[in-house]
Formats: sequence, structure tokens, C-alpha cells
Amino acid sequence: MDIIIRDNYEEMSTYAAEIIAGYIKYKPDCVLGLATGGTPIGTYKELIRMHHEGLDFSQVITFNLDEYLGVGMELERPYHSDQSYARFMHEELFKHINIKKENIHLPDGQTEDPKKFCIWYEAEIKRVGGIDLQILGLGGDGHWGFNEPGSSLGSRTRVQALTEQTLDDNYEAFYKNANIERSKMPHFAITMGIGTILEAKNILMVVNGSKKANILAKCLEGPITSQVTSSAIQLHSGEITVVIDEAAASKLTHSGRYKHIEKLKHQFGL
Ligand code: PGA
Repeated sequence: MDIIIRDNYEEMSTYAAEIIAGYIKYKPDCVLGLATGGTPIGTYKELIRMHHEGLDFSQVITFNLDEYLGVGMELERPYHSDQSYARFMHEELFKHINIKKENIHLPDGQTEDPKKFCIWYEAEIKRVGGIDLQILGLGGDGHWGFNEPGSSLGSRTRVQALTEQTLDDNYEAFYKNANIERSKMPHFAITMGIGTILEAKNILMVVNGSKKANILAKCLEGPITSQVTSSAIQLHSGEITVVIDEAAASKLTHSGRYKHIEKLKHQFGL
């Protein structure tokens, strides 16, 4: 696991975007797992900038991690559509790059049969050969996607009830500004499972800010537990890169060692 500590959010975002761009250049039809939330916005901005300089998304395939149940892209069924993760992805990334619509996969929060949809979503990921690089944030309660504390570490794509902490976090981030009452937020979501995420060939996690420092330390250095579902990162067998800023790194016991290893690898061209 490579843990890369950068001075601030901007440097973290640039580093993460360079990793993603590297995958796209190496394998133009690569399959990316994408995350929503405040954290990856800077990374997506940098990818958009790179696209304007020639980075080509025309063969890239994407799968998003999650979506609130009851919301989606279709404006004729607008249950809080403005807050949908589909819209977030459209606004923050998709509409700015040359990705093909048919290559974008988003959990359908408005599906009439969530169980059937989740099975289909898993099958689609398999059909395209699996996810090459899964991009992840870190929830305040340690979740990936909406895999809340207590989710099985082998879980698959499914409907999940959201915790009070997630509702609070996301209310602040997405709903307050839109003047939507907290009680009107969706309380369920479709999310890829931890087992699904662990099958991605490689993982890129981005985390910033002092608010995430404690939970990041639990995720990376604590015991593997379903109470911090992202601690499953310690079980992943592919290449893992965790890119964080100094504020998020502030509670890590071994941050000095991570910096030392990064320097050494750089020195030896690894
Ligand atoms: P955030 O969300 O990037 O808005 O902090 C992360 C998450 O909940 O996964």
C-alpha cells in the first residue's frame, strides 16, 4: 500500500488525477470505478483540465459507487433530483469530457426493482472484465460508498440504510444549500458492496481535512472490522494508492515512515 501525503487539497487532487490519467493513457478502454462527494471534486477538475490538453476519455468505461434510493437523473420523476449523484457526476465530470454516454454506469436510484438492478449492476461490471481502478473517498463513519458500519466485508451491490452520521454529513454537503429539510432526505441508497469494491484490480483512495484524521487512522492502521468498512483496504491484493493531505494524515502513527518510503521509492525509480 502506497500512502502519499501532500501538503494540501490541491496537491492531493493533482497527484490523484495524474494516477488516473496514467491508467487512461496506458489502457484507453480502462474501467474506472468513480466516487462522489466533496473530496474527489478537485481530482475531477484536474482531469477536466487534462482533457482540455488532450486526455482522451472516448473509450473509458465508468461505474459509480452509489446513489440515493428514489433519486435519479430523470427530471420527469424528480424526487430530489438536484441532489442525485447522477447529476453530481454529470456536473462535476461527465459533461466536461468526451466520455460516451453508453460507457457510463450509475446505480439507478429510481429503479422499480432494486434487487434485480443490483444483480444486473454486478453482472455488468463482470461483463466488461472488472474494474481496473476504483476511486474512493472516505465517509465520516469510515464507509466506502454507502457501506455503513456493520456492513459485511463480503457484501455486494445492494440497498443499504444510511446512518445518522451519513445523513448529517450529506445534509451539510448537499441538502442544506438546496433548502431541503433534513427529514426529507432519502434514508436509503444503492451501493456497491465492500466485496464488490475489493474485486477492483487497483484502488485509489483520496482523503483530506482534519475532520477525517481519526477515521483515516482507524481505516489504515486500526483492526480490520465491519465497524469501519473501509478498513477492508488492508485485505486488498492489488495496487493500493492512498493520497491524502497533511491535515488528514495528522492522526496516523506512521506518517513519517510513509513519507520515507515514498522518498526511497522515488530515489530508486520504483
Ligand atoms: P466527502 O464524502 O468526500 O464529501 O467527505 C466521502 C464519502 O462519504 O465517501
